[in-house]
Amino acid sequence: MAQHYKTATVFGGTGFLGRQIVRGLARRGVIVKVATRVPERAYFLKPSGDPGQVVPVACDYSNAQSVQRAIEGSDYVVNCIGILFQRGRGRNFKALHTDLPGSIASLCAQSGVKRLVHISALGVEAGTSRYAKTKFAGEKAVLENFPQATILRPSVIFGEGDHFFNMFAEMSRYLPFLPLIGGGKTRFQPVFVGDVAEAAMSVLEAPRARGQIYELGGPEILTFKEIYERLFKQTGRVRALVSLPFWAAKMQAFFMGFLPNPPLTMDQVESLRSDNIVKEGALRLGDLEIQPTALSVILPVYLQTYRRGGRFSKVQEA
Ligand SMILES: NC(=O)c1ccc[n+]([C@@H]2O[C@H](COP(=O)([O-])OP(=O)(O)OC[C@H]3O[C@@H](n4cnc5c(N)ncnc54)[C@H](OP(=O)(O)O)[C@@H]3O)[C@@H](O)[C@H]2O)c1
Repeated sequence: MAQHYKTATVFGGTGFLGRQIVRGLARRGVIVKVATRVPERAYFLKPSGDPGQVVPVACDYSNAQSVQRAIEGSDYVVNCIGILFQRGRGRNFKALHTDLPGSIASLCAQSGVKRLVHISALGVEAGTSRYAKTKFAGEKAVLENFPQATILRPSVIFGEGDHFFNMFAEMSRYLPFLPLIGGGKTRFQPVFVGDVAEAAMSVLEAPRARGQIYELGGPEILTFKEIYERLFKQTGRVRALVSLPFWAAKMQAFFMGFLPNPPLTMDQVESLRSDNIVKEGALRLGDLEIQPTALSVILPVYLQTYRRGGRFSKVQEA
């Protein structure tokens, strides 16, 4: 009897998280369609599987037929598309965080997709930023159109190529001080990218995960200030921390917002007003039998390049 290979479509599979999910699925023998605006961007993922197993698929998100083609024939769909700032018509929070997930979910339902996993973010329920509000509306749109979908809400994600730790480590190379927005009291529960990818694959297989929301956090809760301290410990570059009230950080972010790739936006400052930690009683990594990985295990692996004197220099305790 011919073997039926499972097929998955990963939207945003070229991204920091998406690529780990693509690799994990390929390791499990799944044929993976990497839906992307620019197929060449997904070529680096081809060696993650056997020849022909990982297939970049061009997707024009403004065209439902194009999205439909990316989904057609797949058993699983994972949506990892997300943005941190808006720019022009193609980069809009509502379009990408709310409308697109809703239409992906609706097309999944019409195409007989068995499982849909949608990546949201922690704290969106109560968040006041546009990022959070549109992400939360996106969750609702997904569940309305595909009630059996599973939503994953990660806290800030760390790992090689992350946006958060790498950005502050890079800033600490050049700046004599770093901003402590809102006094640095916002609490985070950083989660390892490998654990989030593992969770996405685990919920694809687990019938109990259907229609559920999982909040994904790491083993430690740290304030913004404590995160800087961890960073300094790894890089040996201790920088002065300058406390900036939210209003002042917003002013600074207003001007940064004109840069092509702003390191900080007014909306991100707004999101720092609320904690980013797993809620009491929420389903979490432990419910998927995943032991969260500690920052101390992973940070040295990829932050060593920021050490004074480079990656081969001795670790200098900060
Ligand atoms: N990183 C974190 O700390 C974190 C924390 C909480 C939640 N999340 C959520 O997790 C998901 C993945 O995050 P990530 O950090 O892996 O993001 P990422 O590295 O920025 O990748 C996101 C993907 O979205 C696609 N994309 C970006 N802009 C787009 C646009 N204008 N139109 C259509 N597609 C676009 C890109 O695919 P192509 O360029 O190939 O088309 C890209 O690969 C997102 O939903 C994010 O909100 C991330």
